[in-house]
Amino acid sequence: MQAEEHGCRQVTDLVKSPGTFRILVAVTGSVAALKLPLLVSQLLQLSGVEVRVVTTEHAKHFFNPADISVKIYSDQEEWELWAQRSDPVLHIELRRWADLLLIAPLDANTLGKIANGICDNLLTCVVRAWDTTCPLLFCTAMNTAMWQHPITAQQVSRLKEFGYVEIPCIFKKLACGDEGKGGMAEVSTIVGVVKQYLQRTDESSENA
Ligand SMILES: Cc1cc2nc3c(=O)[nH]c(=O)nc-3n(C[C@H](O)[C@H](O)[C@H](O)COP(=O)(O)O)c2cc1C
Repeated sequence: MQAEEHGCRQVTDLVKSPGTFRILVAVTGSVAALKLPLLVSQLLQLSGVEVRVVTTEHAKHFFNPADISVKIYSDQEEWELWAQRSDPVLHIELRRWADLLLIAPLDANTLGKIANGICDNLLTCVVRAWDTTCPLLFCTAMNTAMWQHPITAQQVSRLKEFGYVEIPCIFKKLACGDEGKGGMAEVSTIVGVVKQYLQRTDESSENA
């Protein structure tokens, strides 16, 4: 995973290919993480994009890495990568690599952490180090009872104050059997929003 360059180690999976739009998908422990394979495959159909995934430990329960065709990073890679001063710090490398951060799904736990600046795993460290002038999109996904708790609206507003963009959750029959608001937006909706950012980048590089 590392290559030596100018005395500094680089993460070889994160070498920037010129002219590509780099999307980092961050996945947390909601049942909606079941849709990660579909989300990644649909993002990869957009022209000129590269995709990587960062996952929490709990999110790993919901997908099989064999179903994902791109590199997946988690806490284990973060800590294995660093042994001495010249080694890269993975959450900073990921933040440098990505043009857009898409948190899908964003569960109630990580929503609360991000709203309060907590960074106790690879995913939340990337978010904490994120350049707030770059796009960060988030797709909440939780049970309706969790969604309706007053702290949810406060925390979602906080994220919007940081300049992050909400792709709103939807009303549906949830995996737990309840029906109501809280389901993650459809994958097609999420990919449609990402596509708008990609097109804006294409237009600004044409006008440069
Ligand atoms: C089967 C199952 C499904 C879950 N689905 C959700 C969910 O959709 N949304 C949510 O906010 N939490 C959900 N949780 C709870 C989170 O997994 C839990 O809060 C966990 O600590 C989240 O960790 P993370 O934010 O580090 O990924 C679920 C838990 C289980 C066991």
